[in-house]
Amino acid sequence: MELFDVYPLFDITPVKGEGCYIWDDKGTKYLDLYGGHAVISVGHSHPHYVERITEQVKKIGFYSNSVQNPMQKELAHKLGQLSGLEDFTLFLCNSGAEANENALKLASFHTGRSKVVAFQKGFHGRTSGAVAITDNPKIIAPFNAKHEVSILPLNDIDAVEQELKNNDVAAVIIEGIQGIAGIITPDASFLEALEPLCKKYGAVLILDEVQSGYGRSGKFFGFQHTNVKPDLVTMAKGMGNGFPVGGVLISPMFEASYGLLGTTFGGNYLACAASLAVLEIIEQEKLVENAKKVGDHLLSKLVGKAEIKELRGSGLMIGVEYHEKIADLRRKLLFEKCIFTGVAGTNTVRLLPPLNLTIDQADFFLKSLGEIPNS
Ligand SMILES: Cc1ncc(COP(=O)(O)O)c(C=O)c1O
Repeated sequence: MELFDVYPLFDITPVKGEGCYIWDDKGTKYLDLYGGHAVISVGHSHPHYVERITEQVKKIGFYSNSVQNPMQKELAHKLGQLSGLEDFTLFLCNSGAEANENALKLASFHTGRSKVVAFQKGFHGRTSGAVAITDNPKIIAPFNAKHEVSILPLNDIDAVEQELKNNDVAAVIIEGIQGIAGIITPDASFLEALEPLCKKYGAVLILDEVQSGYGRSGKFFGFQHTNVKPDLVTMAKGMGNGFPVGGVLISPMFEASYGLLGTTFGGNYLACAASLAVLEIIEQEKLVENAKKVGDHLLSKLVGKAEIKELRGSGLMIGVEYHEKIADLRRKLLFEKCIFTGVAGTNTVRLLPPLNLTIDQADFFLKSLGEIPNS
């Protein structure tokens, strides 16, 4: 049996990772500015992370969610502090799409409504509800399209009000910083205006921090660059540094009822060990601060370059949009300079490295980029 084709694959087989580097099976070392798609937050195979998971699996790897798990409570406590949402509760699941599905379900149950407002170029995942609110008709099957969704222009508060006016919208969902779109930050004034508007018309405000969360933007969550207070926050990617784990932070206005949300694997011992290790490392190594410092450095060195049309993002979530198509740039960076980067659309390079990227590593990238023709 062959594999079902889902992505175009690079002819590279990683066999080892350490910090901001990965090695392939031929021994070639790559600088990882892609972070396995914004997932590697504290670096590959961080010793504390490895130890925490290893020690945990030696004790007990899994039991069902019908018993006490103090690690889940510790995680909830820490995430409350880091988000400034201490009065919220935590639901643990396994991925970003699943976190969004559960957030939509909570919003729909709470409001008794089924309509959702999402935004152009947004991405929220590939499961049924999540894909329906994603602005990419190519991946929405007829089954997914059964959901009632309005996709509106980003930053157009009048368009949102127009949509909410009928008092039939369950949720407005927005990425803290749009990732797949090529790193587009909603205006702070727009995010802040969404909150009272949602309250006025009885809709729930969901912040999708799956990509922009966990320190990547130079704040713990992207929305913390503003004064918005969401009703639900979804997260995944950097949360487990590669171990599959996601979560929803839930405002006290949602009433819990047994069986409404649930999962077999979500919040298992290994996921909790991974997530707690990530938070411990982020705190000990001041990685949110480092993301800001190294991100600012990268932006300051890239600004003003004639070939660059627009520089976007903050912290270590950076979009570099070129005037020209960059079809070859990613391949050249990878195969000539041994640097992994991401792309968005046809003209944008996306940088999503581990949060412990150093200034020297950032400078190596800048120097290598300068050596590639057309860049
Ligand atoms: C903002 C955002 N939301 C949700 C998802 C879906 O996450 P997952 O692939 O873990 O289901 C992604 C994945 O790229 C994302 O970037």
